[in-house]
Amino acid sequence: MPAPEAVVFDAYGTLLDVNAAMAGHAARLGARWESLSGEWRAKQLEYTWVRSLTGPARHEDFWLCTRDALAFVLARHGIADEALARDLMQAYRTLPAYPEVPAMLRAVRARGVATAILSNGTPGMLAAAVEAAGIAPLIDEVLSVEEVGVFKPDRRVYGLATRQFGCSPDALAFVSGNAWDAQAAHHFGMRVIRVCRAATPDEYGLEEAGVPVVTDLAGLTDLLA
Ligand code: LAC
Repeated sequence: MPAPEAVVFDAYGTLLDVNAAMAGHAARLGARWESLSGEWRAKQLEYTWVRSLTGPARHEDFWLCTRDALAFVLARHGIADEALARDLMQAYRTLPAYPEVPAMLRAVRARGVATAILSNGTPGMLAAAVEAAGIAPLIDEVLSVEEVGVFKPDRRVYGLATRQFGCSPDALAFVSGNAWDAQAAHHFGMRVIRVCRAATPDEYGLEEAGVPVVTDLAGLTDLLA
């Protein structure tokens, strides 16, 4: 199989460590920070799916879904601390990349393959994130769902990538740490690689469909040729 035109990455949970926001404020959250972080992520995604299914009139961007999800989780746990909520949102805006990401992006580009982000994030969030993570110069295109006004896994989102690169889906490699995102890209026709940092079970029949799984992004280029 020829090398792909581009490697298209999911952002949150794939290139960017979404747990870093609460980890960075663990002293204020206590030992529960990790489960709170999981709840925040789950609620944030729930809000994106509900908004997408309810229709365009109810679309609110990913920043607002993230903010509302945080407010719900903090309230549910009786944490009434507006300064903490503000600090957590600021931390979410400037999440770090996983440690192997910069070298991996350089290796992809050294092969003459373009790099892109395709994310639920708003253009503003994504610009701030790639800047803060120090990977802005290593990403050729940053694509936000805001262009189509609906969240993943709507097919229109994946279509942004084929439109950008002017190619068929199977000319793109899509990399995601979210199984539900990976299955959507797979059914759209992209070559998919799933990142599974915690040993969670297979979902959506990805394994049977032959979607390769990696535990981090270090060896990604080996899978591209
Ligand atoms: C994104 C979410 C799904 O970056 O992680 O699109």
